Amino acid sequence: MTNTTMKAVVSNKYGGPEVLSYTEIARPNPKDNEVLIQIKATSVTAASIFMRSGKPYFARLFTGLSKPKITIQGTDLAGEIIAIGKNVQHYKIGDKVMASTDLDCGAYAEYICLAEDAIIVQQPHNMTAAEATGMIDGATTALSFFRDNIQLKKGQKVLINGASGSIGTAAIQLAKYFGTEVTAVCSSKNEALVRSLGADFMIDYTKEDFTHLNTPYDVIFDTVGKLSYSKSKKALSKNGVFLTPVLLIRSLFHMLFGSLFGRKKLKFAATGLRPEALRKRDLLFLKNLIEDGKLKTVIDRKYTLNEIQAAHRYVEKGHKVGNVVVTF
Ligand SMILES: NC(=O)c1ccc[n+]([C@@H]2O[C@H](COP(=O)([O-])OP(=O)(O)OC[C@H]3O[C@@H](n4cnc5c(N)ncnc54)[C@H](OP(=O)(O)O)[C@@H]3O)[C@@H](O)[C@H]2O)c1
Repeated sequence: MTNTTMKAVVSNKYGGPEVLSYTEIARPNPKDNEVLIQIKATSVTAASIFMRSGKPYFARLFTGLSKPKITIQGTDLAGEIIAIGKNVQHYKIGDKVMASTDLDCGAYAEYICLAEDAIIVQQPHNMTAAEATGMIDGATTALSFFRDNIQLKKGQKVLINGASGSIGTAAIQLAKYFGTEVTAVCSSKNEALVRSLGADFMIDYTKEDFTHLNTPYDVIFDTVGKLSYSKSKKALSKNGVFLTPVLLIRSLFHMLFGSLFGRKKLKFAATGLRPEALRKRDLLFLKNLIEDGKLKTVIDRKYTLNEIQAAHRYVEKGHKVGNVVVTF
């Protein structure tokens, strides 16, 4: 490889992991307002799977109707700034940063150019690039739900379903940070992990149905979209809220009209579609929490860029523990 090319993973059509092609392409050059980042780590998230497969189909409204609008996927990254445009003021060569590119993608590559006002913040000094990139998806999502969609309050009882996943492992830690009592729902193999992250109680979803336990929760956060709201409602307190990051047709009615028939509510949010300035603020908030020792990243597996198909196959199974990262 010369310094005018780079390794990247390119996909020109929707499909299975085999559409991801590890190849060599031209390396980008920063414009006047951009930084050039040498990527050290990126993530394979649940969103990476829908961007690659084009399913569910409604997601194509954002990613391209018949084929991906963006051919290099990957939305989260951590790396080092190795060049800057002449108008860049807030970053310098050598800065270690983490960034989220969301629908602009581009992180499955050795290098990326980003405008300096994009969602870039300094990498936490106590995290590796792999840990920093692994944290972004789950923690920014959980934070936005807890702090913006509801104002999570000290002393509330929170049940987190899918507690061993990417959003789940971050949600446990953030719910504890906000001073709540946390019940983690996951399988027994992950009990030690969720307790180490701060969960006060654990329920094994393969053995027990929490809706039968007669415990009222102020918040049920179904991070993996596996619960029925109608059924879970009876486990909500009088003004309880059911949160979900997964948009299901069956939830739409409850979301739009549910509050007309009672005080319990279902809330969905697409946290990645919020304005960049807010998401940058959140990443900064999380960086500070990490540096204060209040948030860590759970990493399940690490792959290299040329193993991206295997990484996608693993994530697609829906049983990862925390996060899957790709290191360079
Ligand atoms: N709206 C938004 O802004 C937004 C943002 C980010 C992600 N999302 C969506 O949120 C969802 C979750 O993402 P994620 O990355 O956190 O998922 P994930 O990490 O892939 O979730 C995997 C975990 O879910 C657990 N799990 C699987 N089935 C379960 C069940 N029936 N009950 C309880 N736990 C179960 C698995 O544990 P076991 O192995 O024990 O089953 C595994 O540890 C995805 O659909 C993603 O697209 C939405």
